[in-house]
Amino acid sequence: MSKDKKVALVTGGNRGIGYELVKQLALKDFKVILTSRHPETGHEATQELMKSNLDVSFVVMDVDNPESIRQAAIIVKELYGRLDVLINNAGVYLDENKKVVAMDPSILEITMATNFFGAYYCLRSFMPIMEKQGYGRIINVSSEYGALSEMSDPGVGAYKLSKLALNGLTRLVAAEVKGDIKINAVDPGWVSSDMGGPSAPRTPEQAAKSILWLATIGPEGPNGEFFRDGNRIDW
Ligand SMILES: NC(=O)c1ccc[n+]([C@@H]2O[C@H](COP(=O)([O-])OP(=O)(O)OC[C@H]3O[C@@H](n4cnc5c(N)ncnc54)[C@H](OP(=O)(O)O)[C@@H]3O)[C@@H](O)[C@H]2O)c1
Repeated sequence: MSKDKKVALVTGGNRGIGYELVKQLALKDFKVILTSRHPETGHEATQELMKSNLDVSFVVMDVDNPESIRQAAIIVKELYGRLDVLINNAGVYLDENKKVVAMDPSILEITMATNFFGAYYCLRSFMPIMEKQGYGRIINVSSEYGALSEMSDPGVGAYKLSKLALNGLTRLVAAEVKGDIKINAVDPGWVSSDMGGPSAPRTPEQAAKSILWLATIGPEGPNGEFFRDGNRIDW
């Protein structure tokens, strides 16, 4: 690996939007670490991308498990000694037609564990690498469901609350961070992945394109904002 090559890491990179993010980052000449909670699916996805000569490697990481995240950060530090881009993409959507107070609380707990605490523990483990080098670009893959205005409509409570908290975390960390580190949230739109289903109008490729401009913003770029297709969203 060239010493100057920037390193990017994507959570939940084995399928859907995450897989496309890995592919497009590699096409932009990043060294990309594809992470997945399952070794088999992670290796398979990485092999597939390597067939096209893309500079992708695999590290196992379950974002529901802070120890797994901590171990992954140790590996990244040892192998590459840097991390320039972190994309918190891994997510679950488990409560389509349920009311938040009536649903099994474990649905809310699992959703928060993955969509909110997963990103939170990734920040705790990977931001010190960025702080040390004085540079980092962090993107939290959120959803328009995380806008405060969405709470006025019933349903999808666990998912909405997890993304609302993720958006809040984005803004809070942006206010606290020092050096040339930018953290922003993005709504990828309705995307035809396993989560979005086959009727969704956007492809994972289009979604990844709408996200990745934030990976290369300059020091004057946005920090603590929420975007869709490059436009700021009110939250
Ligand atoms: N699709 C949409 O319409 C849409 C809209 C708005 C926002 N988003 C957001 O976009 C992101 C990606 O969604 P997607 O559509 O690509 O969904 P997807 O096709 O269901 O893929 C979800 C990814 O997250 C991974 N994941 C789930 N729990 C994990 C855990 N504990 N540890 C590590 N990885 C985990 C999955 O891994 P496994 O294969 O191991 O399950 C998979 O790689 C999510 O944050 C989602 O909320 C999607």
